[in-house]
Amino acid sequence: MMQRWNSQRKKTHFPLLTLFFILFIVVTILHHERSILQIQEDNSGHAHDHQRTPITYVKPNLLNHGNRATEVLDRFSRCNSTREYSGRKIAWADGEPNSGNRKERSESCDVFSGRWVFDNTSYPLYKEPECPYMSDQLACHKHGRSDLGYQYWRWQPNDCNLKRWNVHEMWEKLRGKRLMFVGDSLNRGQWISMVCLLQSVIPADKRSMSPNAHLTIFRAEEYNATVEFLWAPLLVESNSDDPVNHRLDERIIRPDSVLKHASKWEHADILVFNTYLWWRQGPVKLLWSAEENSICEELDGLGAMELAMEAWADWVAKMNSLKKRVFFATMSPTHLWSREWKTGSEGNCYNQKMPIDREGYWGSGSDLPTMRMVENVLSKLGSKVSVINITQLSEYRKDGHPSIYRKFWEPLKPEQLSKPTTYSDCIHWCLPGVPDVWNELLFHFL
Ligand SMILES: *[C@@H]1O[C@H](CO)[C@@H](O)[C@H](O)[C@H]1NC(C)=O
Ligand SMILES: *[C@@H]1O[C@H](CO)[C@@H](O)[C@H](O)[C@H]1NC(C)=O
Ligand SMILES: *[C@@H]1O[C@H](CO)[C@@H](O)[C@H](O)[C@H]1NC(C)=O
Ligand SMILES: *[C@@H]1O[C@H](CO)[C@@H](O)[C@H](O)[C@H]1NC(C)=O
Repeated sequence: MMQRWNSQRKKTHFPLLTLFFILFIVVTILHHERSILQIQEDNSGHAHDHQRTPITYVKPNLLNHGNRATEVLDRFSRCNSTREYSGRKIAWADGEPNSGNRKERSESCDVFSGRWVFDNTSYPLYKEPECPYMSDQLACHKHGRSDLGYQYWRWQPNDCNLKRWNVHEMWEKLRGKRLMFVGDSLNRGQWISMVCLLQSVIPADKRSMSPNAHLTIFRAEEYNATVEFLWAPLLVESNSDDPVNHRLDERIIRPDSVLKHASKWEHADILVFNTYLWWRQGPVKLLWSAEENSICEELDGLGAMELAMEAWADWVAKMNSLKKRVFFATMSPTHLWSREWKTGSEGNCYNQKMPIDREGYWGSGSDLPTMRMVENVLSKLGSKVSVINITQLSEYRKDGHPSIYRKFWEPLKPEQLSKPTTYSDCIHWCLPGVPDVWNELLFHFL
């Protein structure tokens, strides 16, 4: 090779080329040696890992651990000590079901891909001041937002139409049933939206709302139906299960049990779950049920969320799917960096008045590895779960967040007030607004 190549070139280049060739050989050999070394290191590392921590599978949602009832986590729970993640994973109690395709697959139209269309004749579906159950966190008009364009958008799927919202038809679907939303504050927003959508046709003396607690219940007497919200931001049991006092530096979960929450949600007929943002705040402490001395392990948010999703999926796999419908709402996007949709800008969702019209726009707030993990877990459940894939359609709605137009629980400092972007809420959604459409999707699939 070398010889043929040389014979085709002028002789004057030869010394330089030889030098390059020798250099090349030396570099190659060195590199080769290094990679062999690395391989050896990897091997010994693996062997070491295997000896120290063989992968064990834990069956989730067990009531007894050697006749020992596990202590319930609350905000006072602490880890005795913390060690590295042992690699333990969740194995469904009955193995993974061989259930058929997901329901959506058989439907020809993908209602989650489409665009937002300005429609101020049919929207909003209710008026903010007319809903007595509105939250001060989401009532943007009441808290000073004067541009109301965010209320007037309709979701238009590309290849079909969404079923038109019909409050009486929805109540007929709910007659004699319990509809329960389970999750974090984003899911609570969807629940408030649903209550606001439904309540107007029920006379004031025929409806009631229980006080805000772990489980909050809206009742409509004449339909013998309830629309409920269960606070369970991490789905599995955790030290953050108090809806008010949950601000904690150390997040501890029971990665192998949803039983505490399931005891409340198991009576529901229609369940809508979500979980996402609480896993995005750094490592999580795991306290396995079999652990007797409160010794925790530490794992990154995505890994911990996967354990929680598996423990939750084990419950869903075991339930009687003839009696229940289960939905899972995918991650709700945030709009914290305006440079993601407008290069060079330095803001966030504050003062954004229009949706993004770039098809397929995806910001950094929606984590793709999380989506793949969720997709994988849900697909193992087959037809036992239906997906409400809100992520892409909500990604377009940078205009839909409260920003500064909501009640803030802590007083704002002058330097914050002078720079609105510093305290804007670009996570939750104004009502009426985007979550109403999530509920129209739920209505579409019910
Ligand atoms: C709807 O929007 C159009 C265009 O902005 C405006 O001319 C019209 O008055 C609006 N109608 C209602 C009912 O708000
Ligand atoms: C009301 O609904 C519950 C189920 O949520 C059912 O057990 C009960 O029998 C119903 N009551 C009436 C009067 O229909
Ligand atoms: C903490 O660990 C020690 C031993 O490792 C044990 O004796 C003690 O009971 C543990 N404390 C709790 C609260 O579990
Ligand atoms: C939701 O839709 C996105 C595309 O917008 C897709 O990549 C993702 O896999 C879907 N998630 C699930 C859980 O189906």
